Formats: sequence, structure tokens, C-alpha cells
Amino acid sequence: MTKRALTGIKPTGEPHLGNWLGAIQPALELARDYETFYFIADYHALTSVHSAEDLRRYVRDITATYLAFGLDPKNSFFYRQSDIPEIFELAWILSCFTPKGFMNRAHAYKDAVAKNEAAGKDSDDGINMGLFGYPVLMAADILMFNADVVPVGADQKQHVEFARDIAERFNHNYGKVFFHLPEPRISATVKTVVGLDGRKMSKSYDNTIPLFLEEKALQKRINQVVTNSQAPEEPKDPGQSHIFALHALLLNAEEDKALRERYLAGGMGWGMAKKLFFESLNEQLRGPRSEYNRLIADASYLDSILAQGKDRARAVAVPFLDELRAAIGIR
Ligand code: ADP
Ligand code: TRP
Repeated sequence: MTKRALTGIKPTGEPHLGNWLGAIQPALELARDYETFYFIADYHALTSVHSAEDLRRYVRDITATYLAFGLDPKNSFFYRQSDIPEIFELAWILSCFTPKGFMNRAHAYKDAVAKNEAAGKDSDDGINMGLFGYPVLMAADILMFNADVVPVGADQKQHVEFARDIAERFNHNYGKVFFHLPEPRISATVKTVVGLDGRKMSKSYDNTIPLFLEEKALQKRINQVVTNSQAPEEPKDPGQSHIFALHALLLNAEEDKALRERYLAGGMGWGMAKKLFFESLNEQLRGPRSEYNRLIADASYLDSILAQGKDRARAVAVPFLDELRAAIGIR
């Protein structure tokens, strides 16, 4: 049987170049070898997005983005988490098999506590139960569809390990393998994309290159990449340049070598370096951008895709949850 890969996408902001190269592209590549499940983790986003308007917009954005980059909803499962109520019932069931100590040790929660303590605040200041219990809901996302591999960023590895552990406890208690044990998959080839200021590109640093800016705005944004004060004629060290680091993400080995040589030879100013990067990126985004613009203007089409995804995913989730209910003595 084809193995299943499943990954959740949290709709918390405007998608940027780091999201594309670090998450969207590698996730879509999995469809070659796996039966794929992609879902929009909107109830996970609710732990931090408390504006209804923003949440609605981010969900539409991310739906259109995945489709624009070629997600084929006929060939994969593509659904919105909140459309599958079975996931939330399973989250409760699993929480009854989850040691509270796991949640105390979860990275996101521990980081929030550490920040509070460093600021001299109460350790749980501003931390809601959704953030605290986040990993249980994530375990339910994964186990509901019996995923074999879960591609995630390194920061999410611990959550997948919790899901494994919870699955084992449940299987062991009821003496049957209801759940496969999911493997986290951290792609070694995925690079960290730098932002305008050279730190990791992240919406929390406000240093992103959003994916679907119009050409002029994209060019303006790229002009904001920080460079040093070397004059155009001076040779430049590609290893020290954020513009080079960004541009290289789009190049094959041969093109990379050629561009490196142009930097080292001197005679290329930062304005030219930025222009070349803009041209490469713009070329690659042209098709997805026009597709995105078409999709984002067609809310009823996006809704219809999510409605189909809901039906397909529930066809798997409903009978499995029935089986689990019977196993635990509910019904
Ligand atoms: P942000 O840091 O902007 O809030 P998210 O945490 O929402 O981004 O990330 C969503 C996905 O995109 C994750 O899988 C993450 O690993 C990937 N990602 C985000 N930023 C980058 C980056 N700069 N380089 C590579 N991957 C990234
Ligand atoms: N927690 C993941 C993130 O912050 C998103 C997510 C939710 C997820 N449920 C998941 C990822 C299940 C993989 C599997 O990026």
C-alpha cells in the first residue's frame, strides 16, 4: 500500500518566499511518492490569530497559494481542519492518553514561559490553553489519517514524537494497532531562506518577500535587501551577500557558479545584483502569481475545492472514529 504523508499548514500570515522554498515546494514534491494529505490548520492558528477577518483572509490566501503552486486536489487530500469535526473528538480522546508532562515540555509552551520569566512576568502570562494543548490537536491531525510520514520544520519534530508516543499508549492499552507510528521527516536539503536583513526570513521579523506582490512592489521590496557600502567596481564576496544567498536559491549548480564569478570579478554594483535577482524571481513567480490572482478573486471556487476536500477526508475519518469509539467503550 502507498504510504501516507501528511502536513498541516498554519494560516497565520501572508505567505512569503521562505514558506514557498522551505515548506510549500518540498510538501508538494511528496505527491510523487506518497498518498498526500495537506490541510489548513485553522484551529491551530486560532491560538494566535484572534481577528475573524484576518483568519478568514489567511485561510483563503493559503488555499489559493497551494493551488497556484500546483497542488492537485484530485490527486491529494486537501482540506480545512475545522471542516473535520472528527479531529476534535479524537483530540479529546487522545488527551486522555497524554501525560500532562509532555505538554509542560513542549517547545512552544516552554519558550513562551521562558520569555515571560525573562520579562519578570507571571510564567503563564498571555498563554492560552490552546497553546498549551497544541501538540494534542496536532497528534489528532496526524493519527486521524494514520500518516506514516510527517514532513515538518525542525521546530515541529518534538510534536510528531509526542504523536508517536500517544499512539503507542493507545494501541497498547486496547491491545490492537489502531494507529501507525508516524515518522517526522525533516528535509536535509531544505535551506533556511534569509530575509531582507540577513536574519531568517519570518513574518515575526517583518523582513519577508511576500510571494504575490505585483512586479513593481516586488522590485521595491527586493531593493530593501541590506547590502554593504562597496562601490560597483569592487569585487564582492558572494558568501557575505544576502542578495546572493537569496538569488542562489533559484539557481542550478551551473548558474550558481556563473553568478558567483560575476560577483568576484567586480564591476557589478548592488543595484545590478538586485535587478538580476528580481528578474529571476519574477520569472519564476509569474505563472503562480497570475493563477493566484485568478483564484483569490473566485471565492466560490476556493470554497468548492475545500468542500470537496472535506467530503473526501471525512469519508476516511468518520468510519475510523466509529471504530475508535467502539474500542474505547463509547457507543
Ligand atoms: P514565519 O516564520 O514567517 O512565521 P511559519 O512559522 O508560519 O513562518 O512557517 C511556515 C512554514 O514555512 C514552516 O514549515 C517553516 O519551516 C517554513 N519556513 C518559514 N520561514 C522559512 C525560512 N526563512 N526558510 C525556510 N523555511 C521557512
Ligand atoms: N504545528 C505545525 C506548524 O506550526 C502545523 C501543523 C498542525 C501540522 N498540525 C499538523 C504539521 C500536523 C504537520 C502535521 O507549522
